[in-house]
Amino acid sequence: MIERTFVMVKPDGVGRRFIGEVIGRYEAKGLKLVGLKMQIVSRALAETHYAEHRGQPFYAGLIEFITSGPTVQMVWEGEDAIAAVRKLNGATDCREADIGTIRGDLGLTKQKNIVHASDARETAEREIALYFQPSELWDYPLPDAAWLQE
Ligand code: CMP
Repeated sequence: MIERTFVMVKPDGVGRRFIGEVIGRYEAKGLKLVGLKMQIVSRALAETHYAEHRGQPFYAGLIEFITSGPTVQMVWEGEDAIAAVRKLNGATDCREADIGTIRGDLGLTKQKNIVHASDARETAEREIALYFQPSELWDYPLPDAAWLQE
């Protein structure tokens, strides 16, 4: 089923010049970019985004890190896009992520793991709405669409 997912390139991914690398991997897979922006996430927005992790030992460090520099927000669309992006990203801890994934190839730690992506359809809807207005999401045809859906 065609669905949309939210992705954020975290401050380490931006700082290490991996924006293009990340976008390139999703594009090569066949996903379609339908939303894109760059910002330093405010503490309030970070706390809303990561509310489910409040109380975890890593929470304070996570909020500190995610608000520490520019980040890139994206919405990607495609056949089972949520699962596709999660596979491309690899396991949360870069040390456990398979080689061939973004985190497995490019990262060394659990906190500085280059990208965040939605883990389920409800999360995707919530995260997309948190970072994008409907008018900032683009509906446009691509000529290879027929080869990229079930
Ligand atoms: P993300 O997909 O952005 O969702 C929550 C983030 O918290 C996760 O990626 C990691 O960056 C971070 N995280 C989760 N568990 C830990 C941990 N044990 N130590 C440090 N950071 C963590």
